[in-house]
Amino acid sequence: MTVRKNQAVLTPDEKRAFVNAVLELKRTGVYDRYVNAHNYYLMNDSDFGNRIGHRTPSFLPWHRRFLLDFEAALQRVDRNVALPYWDWTADRAANSSLWAADFMGGTSRGRDGQVLDGPFAYAGGKWAVTVGVDRRTYLRRALGSGGQQLPTRAEVDAVLAMPVYDTAPWNSASSGFRNHLEGWRGSGVHNRVHVWVGGHMATAASPNDPVFWLHHAFIDKLWADWQARNPKAGYLPATRTPDVIDLRGTLPPWNNVTPADMLDHRRFYTFDKP
Ligand code: CU
Ligand code: CU
Repeated sequence: MTVRKNQAVLTPDEKRAFVNAVLELKRTGVYDRYVNAHNYYLMNDSDFGNRIGHRTPSFLPWHRRFLLDFEAALQRVDRNVALPYWDWTADRAANSSLWAADFMGGTSRGRDGQVLDGPFAYAGGKWAVTVGVDRRTYLRRALGSGGQQLPTRAEVDAVLAMPVYDTAPWNSASSGFRNHLEGWRGSGVHNRVHVWVGGHMATAASPNDPVFWLHHAFIDKLWADWQARNPKAGYLPATRTPDVIDLRGTLPPWNNVTPADMLDHRRFYTFDKP
């Protein structure tokens, strides 16, 4: 059974194995299929039309399944690899070990935003961005963009205390847990982390930056944490609702996956800590 660990406790060997598996998927073209898929869904999700991956109740199950597919691809390269999660309430500085040259690499040192060290630096020859917003083929970041701080533990706890999963109008205006975790309302949790990392992470093609997976693995863990704290609160909407995917609706692009299938992560993996 896959165990997802906090990235801060990974050994050097575990970091190397994860990075090598990611680089192998990039080399074979598999990686960029995930970047394309995310980009497609984000560009097509809208508050007042059909919405599947973002601004919608299925934000959490959609990304859970997206991460599971990616993790399975990693495991076809190296069966011992699991997605690590980045607890940005604890590891909140641009000089944290997450950003060292043996793992994600650091931030840009110039105006062009180019990541210059680590395995995903363009000059290393293994990480050319092909699915992007413009012709620049190097990975970009700007840690701490816009003077933002990463969300705090108190801000996260306030969101975990929300008793209702989601509410009408089931978009970025909703109250409830999902929209506050996604970050369109309140302290901006998930969205703010994308902005803080900056560069590609602040675009629809955010999986160009491998830290995307570590960020979303933590968002996914927070969903599991919320479920454990609110055992009677289920996924909503439970019944047919225009433009959104209800509990038993089909989640594209998969043709046999529903939010109900994604509710219990323990069918697929566990976390190193509850
Ligand atoms: Cu997304
Ligand atoms: Cu995201």
